[in-house]
This record gives sequence, C-alpha cells and structure tokens, in this order.
Amino acid sequence: MKNQLLLFYCLLSAGVFAQRATTISIESKDFALVLQTDKEERLGTIYFGKKLANAVEYESIPRQDRKVDGNAGIYNSVYTPSGSWNLLEPALSIKHADGHVSTELKYVSHRTERVSDGVSLTTVVLRDPVYATEVTLFYKVYAAQNVIEQWSTLKNGEKQPVLLEKYASANLYFPTADDYWLRSYHGIWAREMKPELTRLPYGIHTLDSKLGTRTNLFQPPSFMLSFGAPATETTGKVLMANLAWSGNFKIDFEKDSYNGLRVIAGINPAASEYQLAPGQEFKTPSLIYCYSENGLGEASRNMHRWAKNYRLLDGNGTRLTLLNNWEATYFDFDEKKLVGLFAGAKKLGVDMFLLDDGWFANKYPRNGDAAGLGDWQENKKKLPSGLGYLVREATAAGVKFGIWVEPEMVNPKSELYEKHLDWVIREPQRPEHYFRNQLVLDLSNPEVQDHVFGVLDNIFTKNPDVAYVKWDCNAVIYNAFSKYLESKKLPQTQLYVDYVKGLYSVLDRLRAKYPKVPMMLCSGGGGRVDYGALQYFTEFWLSDNTDPLERVFIQWESSYFFPMIASCNHITDWSKVGLKYRNDVAMMGKMGYDIVVDHLTPDELAFSQAAVKNYRSLSDVIWQGDLYRISDPWEKPFAGVMMVSADKSRAVSFNYVVSNRYEMSLSISPIKLQGLDPAKKYRITEINLFPGTQSSLDAKAVYSGEYLMNVGFNPDMTLQRTSVVLEISEVK
Ligand code: DGJ
Repeated sequence: MKNQLLLFYCLLSAGVFAQRATTISIESKDFALVLQTDKEERLGTIYFGKKLANAVEYESIPRQDRKVDGNAGIYNSVYTPSGSWNLLEPALSIKHADGHVSTELKYVSHRTERVSDGVSLTTVVLRDPVYATEVTLFYKVYAAQNVIEQWSTLKNGEKQPVLLEKYASANLYFPTADDYWLRSYHGIWAREMKPELTRLPYGIHTLDSKLGTRTNLFQPPSFMLSFGAPATETTGKVLMANLAWSGNFKIDFEKDSYNGLRVIAGINPAASEYQLAPGQEFKTPSLIYCYSENGLGEASRNMHRWAKNYRLLDGNGTRLTLLNNWEATYFDFDEKKLVGLFAGAKKLGVDMFLLDDGWFANKYPRNGDAAGLGDWQENKKKLPSGLGYLVREATAAGVKFGIWVEPEMVNPKSELYEKHLDWVIREPQRPEHYFRNQLVLDLSNPEVQDHVFGVLDNIFTKNPDVAYVKWDCNAVIYNAFSKYLESKKLPQTQLYVDYVKGLYSVLDRLRAKYPKVPMMLCSGGGGRVDYGALQYFTEFWLSDNTDPLERVFIQWESSYFFPMIASCNHITDWSKVGLKYRNDVAMMGKMGYDIVVDHLTPDELAFSQAAVKNYRSLSDVIWQGDLYRISDPWEKPFAGVMMVSADKSRAVSFNYVVSNRYEMSLSISPIKLQGLDPAKKYRITEINLFPGTQSSLDAKAVYSGEYLMNVGFNPDMTLQRTSVVLEISEVK
C-alpha cells in the first residue's frame, strides 16, 4: 500500500494525472478569488473580481501559465518560492538544513469549512517535492463584508533547523487590470497619513518599515489599490488593505509584462531570518483586504463593519469621553493640581479623567522625557498619597480615572536600566543611540514580558477602579541586539519578529485577565495603528498634531481604513483656531479634551458643555453608524462627512471649511447627502452653535431622503461659518 501511494505521488509529481486542473474558488458575497493548478501542479491565481453567479464557470477560465521565457518563473503563483525555477521576487525563501536555497511548491490539497455564520475558512496545502517543507495558505472569508483575512503557515519537516529568509503573509495576483493606482501614505511625527497616489510602474514599488517598534512613523501598512482608474467615493474597483502586524513590514507591488500585478505582503525580511526547529511551524501575520466594485465608500463601510464585528476590541460597544492632562500640564503637576482638573472634567460633562506621562519614578523623577521611564512607582513628591488617592478623588468628583503607561521602554536614567541592563535592546560594543532619550526593552525575553505584564497588573491590582489605559510607544529600535536570544543561541535576526510576538503575548495575557478595560493604542501619535494591535485595543491615537485643520485631513485618510469609534480626537490648545471648529472636528470620532477647563471663558464653557451633551446624544450614530464621505478636502475647499444609523432614521453631517480663499466667502452650492432612505422624511437641525450665534438654516423644513440625496442641502458654510454640524432626524 505504501509503495502504491509512493508511486501515485511520483506519477502525480511527474504530471501524469495532472491534466485536469484543480480549481479553487474563494467567494465572498460579491467577489471571488480563483486559484488553479497548472500542468505541473503549481497553483496560480487566475481570477480576482466580481463573483460569478455560477461558480462552475470559473473552470472555463483559460489556464494562464504565465511563464517568463525560459521558464524562469510563473507570474501568478499563489505563493512564489525562490531559488528553483522561479527568479521573480519570492513570497518564500528558505535556507534548508543542508544549506541549499531552492524551494518548489506544488499543490497537495484544499478544503473549506464553516467557521461561524457568514465566516468560512479555506485552507490550501502546498508542499516541496524534494524538501520536507509544507506551506498552508489560509483564506478566512467574511462574506457579508467582502473581506478576506489571509495568512500562511510554514512547517519545517526536515530533521535539522531551517532558516526562513522571507515568509510573506500573502502573495496576491491581479491578472488583468492594465493600470493600477496605489494610494499609500507617508509621514513623520505630527504629519501622519499623508496620502500619495502612484500609477504603479512596471517593476517593483515597495512600502516598508524597518523601525522595529513605532513602525508606522514613516509609513503605515495600509493602502488602497484601484484597478483601471483611481476609484472615487462611489465608483470604481478598489482593494483596501492593512497588514495586521505591529512590526517591520514589506509590501511589494510588481507590475509584470502581461500587465498583471503581483502584491506580496508580510513581515519585512530585512535582518529578520527566522530559525525553525524540526517540526516547528511559523504562522505569519494576516493581510486583511476588502474588495469593492462600487468605490471607496462601500469598501470603507465594509472594512469598518468587519473591524467592529470581528477585530477591534469592543467594536460594537460604547466609549468613554475624557479629559486628558497632557497638553494642559505636560510633566508639571502635583496631586492638588490634578484634583482641580477632575472638577473641570465633571464641569465639562465628560466620563473620565486621563492622567498622562510624568506620574512615576523617584530616584530619577519623571519630570521630563529624559528620566524615569521604567520605574513605575508613583513619584512621591508629585503624588504623595499615591494613585489610589487620585482614583478615589476622581470618583468623588464624579468621573472615572484612566492612566498613561509606556511599559515597553526605558530611560538609561532609571533604576530599571541600572538593575536590568540585560533586558535592554542595545549593542554592547557600541555607544547607545536614543530616540526620545529612551531605549526599547527586549520583549523576546519572557522575563521582560512578565515585567511589562506586571506594570499593568500591579496598577489594576492595587487600583481596581482604574477605568482606562493609554498605552504609549515612543521609540524605534536602534542597535538591535538581544542578550536573551544570545543566551538561547538563537539568531539575532529573530529579534524584530520575536519582539512583536512577545508584545502580543503580553497583550493576550492582559486581555485574558482584564478583558474589558478600554485601552488607547498610542505611539507618539499614530506610530502604531494596525489591525494586529487593534485586537487588544478599543481605540487609537492618530497623531499628536491636534491642530483641527490638520486633523480634518489626517482623520479623513484614517477613515478609509478604521471606524470612527476607534479614532481618538482631542480638543486642545495646539492651535488658535476657534473652539467651535476644534470641537466640531473632534466630534468626528471619539471625542476628548486636553485643556484646562478653568481657562475657558463662560461662553466657551457653556458651548463645550452643550457640545458634550450633543455628542452623547449622537454617539450611537457616530460610533455604530455607516460612514459616507461627501466632500473631499483635497479637491474642494471644505470637507464633508456623514454618519448614518443602520435603520437610516438618524444621521449626523460634519462640514469643515479647509480654505480661506475668496470662493469660501460666498455660501457654497448644495451638497448631495448620501446613505439616507429616499422614502423617509427628514428634518435638519444645526447643533453646536456658539453662544450668541444663530443658525442660518431653516430648522422647520422637512425634506425627503430622495431630495437630500439628489438635489442636496446647503449647510451655508462660509468664512464666517467654518464648521457646521447637522443632526438629521426622521420625521414620522
Ligand atoms: C506621546 C503621546 O503621543 C502624547 O499624547 C503623550 O502621551 C506623550 N507621549 C507623553 O510622553
């Protein structure tokens, strides 16, 4: 029997039975990804696009053996191996136990199983006929949202360790669009999410990060890819994607001579060879992608629904409004000052006070960013009565209490550094190189993981009423060297990967013990916003830049990928723009304040109190509604965004002037609303009016949804009315 099986496998490999192709269709509600074996049992992508009514017809798609002349590679491989017949950019590169570097992958089997209502998982097994290397590709389909989460596992079946040199999450292939338009992002501190549109050239275009931690500082792993022409809000074919990984990443877009496009996305292989012991399996992070043939709006709404239902912690829940003290005090506070701010939070009407950086460390007090990081004991001078006292005082003032931590990091001026130099990522033979005066702790080390877990666990154990955490991460990794990996005789090149695995393992432990505490993902601004980390966090901080005009653009771009409920937007004194504009912009997400309430004038206070109330009454629509982008601030002198409740009975429309050109001195023409029910009747009320001002809009008029979406409505924005927030309610 064994011999017969062997013979069968040999014949199979030799192509004797391989005349009939195996076709695998992976379908969501509206689109399909179809894979097919070629004559040599190599699996390629033959279709990516609208789902056909009859799946059998995929079998009729002509085989596309897109081979480079001389058989140097197959463009459409589902997971391109390296070093054998293939000379294209690989998805997988392995140094086998014998030192050889050639790998081949042939189709072995596949199956599809139901995971839960509307969610299925297709697994495809590929194997090297010579080396005992097995790759399994996973396609988790969230049918209603048209989202696929794709990842891979790589198994070492050899008798000795092998070295993974490249190990992508996904290797997509788009066979036929001719033109591909990529919207990707670049940035730096306080200038995050700057979009760039590229008509992809022939050859390779790469998005990547090698920063280790705070990996999105220059570029996030989010992108959208339009096919044929750049998609608009309501038209065009687009793929919206995010690599769910909080470490180094690399996403290659390679347009070939057939006008097909290969996209290979995953952990950045730079300085990241990973050793796999015999029998060991490596699981890559996921590439999350959402496809639409009806433009960016539909793709975003589906991505948001997916995130809220399946990824973001408590995505369908509620959030706490808050007052943060960072921009109000920086490091300069004591417990008396803080208790005074609690009263301000209550006066404002928000749910919580969030204590930021500067509350800890004694030998090297945290009075600036150069000392104390790592020493998580209350600073006795600033907080002689401890955190417990603050929690009690906040509760007595009628607000919850949240706290800032940055547990992955250490200042060289700290007791932690003095005690545990071996926990610090640093090259012992070189001078230390700092980012914001700090270094990164080695999270590949389980002892360090315990320490980081312990920082949070101690806070919660001693102060069970702490209601919220802001988790910061301000440095990148320089001089990557791990004492721990050295002690285990593991390759140093595993550090970047094991760091993120270590971080996720700490967060797993935290969430097992504290499943509900809301946590903000912060990284010196938006230095770490991805769907890998967001499974542990309820929200994120997009940028330290809280200038509202800048925020309109940053929040606009973020809204493509991430739902409003997760986007923390604070009203601060960063810019001199009027309080109403700041407030109205912050409302487009999870609203918070970072001001001294006692510095507000009576009118400003009255306005803010009313705005908090308005926000509360609309929060279900803002957090759980569907997003429609109405006016693009990159193209028009104003931005317009709407949120519409699922039953279309309520909506909120945010409108912001972004230009002071003459054209804005005249009222604009009507804007066409979206997402309403054409048959319903609506009344439009302007909210967030500053004391002493009146709305120029007719609050009594009633319009049909059909009218508002076809004729439109004029919010009357001018240079005198630079932000207008409208509540739209059904009239029965
Ligand atoms: C960077 C964050 O982005 C800020 O909001 C603030 O928390 C500081 N760190 C504190 O050091």
